[in-house]
Amino acid sequence: MNAAVKVQIVRPNPPDWQHWLAQFFAFSPGDVGSVRVFFAPGRVNLLGEHTDYNGGYVLPAALEMGTWVAVRPRLDGRLRFQSALFPGQDVTAVAASLTYRPEDGFANYPKGVAWAMREWLTQQGVVATANLPGADMMFYGDLPNSAGLSSSASIELATAAALNGLWELNSAAVDLALLSQRAENEFVGVQCGIMDQFSIAVGEANQALSLDCSTLNYRLVPVVLQDHLLVIANTHKPRDLAESKYNERRRECNQALAQLQRVRPQLRHLAEITPEQWPDLTTALNHPVLLRRARHVVFESHRAKMAPILLARGDLVAFGKQMNESHHSLRDDYEVTGPELDALAEAAWGAPGCLGSRMTGAGFGGCTVSLVQNSEVDGFIQQVSRVYQERVGWKPSFYLSGIGPGAREITNEVKLQWQF
Ligand code: GLA
Repeated sequence: MNAAVKVQIVRPNPPDWQHWLAQFFAFSPGDVGSVRVFFAPGRVNLLGEHTDYNGGYVLPAALEMGTWVAVRPRLDGRLRFQSALFPGQDVTAVAASLTYRPEDGFANYPKGVAWAMREWLTQQGVVATANLPGADMMFYGDLPNSAGLSSSASIELATAAALNGLWELNSAAVDLALLSQRAENEFVGVQCGIMDQFSIAVGEANQALSLDCSTLNYRLVPVVLQDHLLVIANTHKPRDLAESKYNERRRECNQALAQLQRVRPQLRHLAEITPEQWPDLTTALNHPVLLRRARHVVFESHRAKMAPILLARGDLVAFGKQMNESHHSLRDDYEVTGPELDALAEAAWGAPGCLGSRMTGAGFGGCTVSLVQNSEVDGFIQQVSRVYQERVGWKPSFYLSGIGPGAREITNEVKLQWQF
């Protein structure tokens, strides 16, 4: 029997309010009453990977981990950003002329959201954007970066919620999600789909989001895990190629769609194809790679669409099997896993108490999510950590986070814990 190895287990870790708000007041001296605090979670996707930009179903859930932002209006129209996570970085921008600058690092995300929000308001003709106040914004977060838990979308939605409050816009959560996605697509330049921003905007505690990405119709689905937990594990693989590979997959899907449209001119998205229709369509695809990519999308979207039925029935065993199927398909057909994610998932499949495990997010590194029996969690983590380290050469980390509510103002909650 192996001795227990030391494993990093991370739980939701909100800011130390005294310390963080002291940092905020050093950065933005002034009246205590005008400070407000907002939070936006990260997300874990339970099923439906690489289906959002193919008009398919996804089943993500908001986490209890995320991004906090303390904010105070400024009268000079400027936006100023600091983060407790990146000491020394202090970015000031003129709200009326925001541009992406690589040297601004994390601040490009809130800048992008402010840009997208002003564009959106101008299009709506709702307010004269010239009159909007600027803001001092201080961030903190407990999500790992580049790990597939949507730390970027979390910063975006924390900013969107804060500006929504500060500018008294009363915008719907769905609009905040859409303009945050626009910030990421057009300002930051990453071609993500809508899943991350949407789930972070509308998420609710203990519920997953069943979202049809072709219509944006959604419903919240109770996730009753009985005596099980979600265990997230981080490969710690550097994700250098992730963005170019993600764009490559999007191009391949577009090619597959174009070929299928020759025989089905009405087809708008790959995920519109049902598993029953699929066998008759395969001959329309002229390359085995395109066939595999399209097959993943068809069956993955179907899994995500049907899984709420399994959750409603409380059939976690069947749900776990769907998670495993999803990983197989992402590994063999979509080819976005890689040795590290495969090592983590395979280690999980062989570990005690595990009903299912799969990669979550874009892939090419990042995290897996596993459904694990409560009483076996310690043994599960020990075994997965050991097997992964033997195969890959370094240790994974583990995150134990419940499913929490979406982006929101938390000023009153913070005030109860800290006397403003
Ligand atoms: C990233 C993107 C999402 C989605 C997933 C893959 O997280 O931001 O839009 O495409 O990858 O499912």
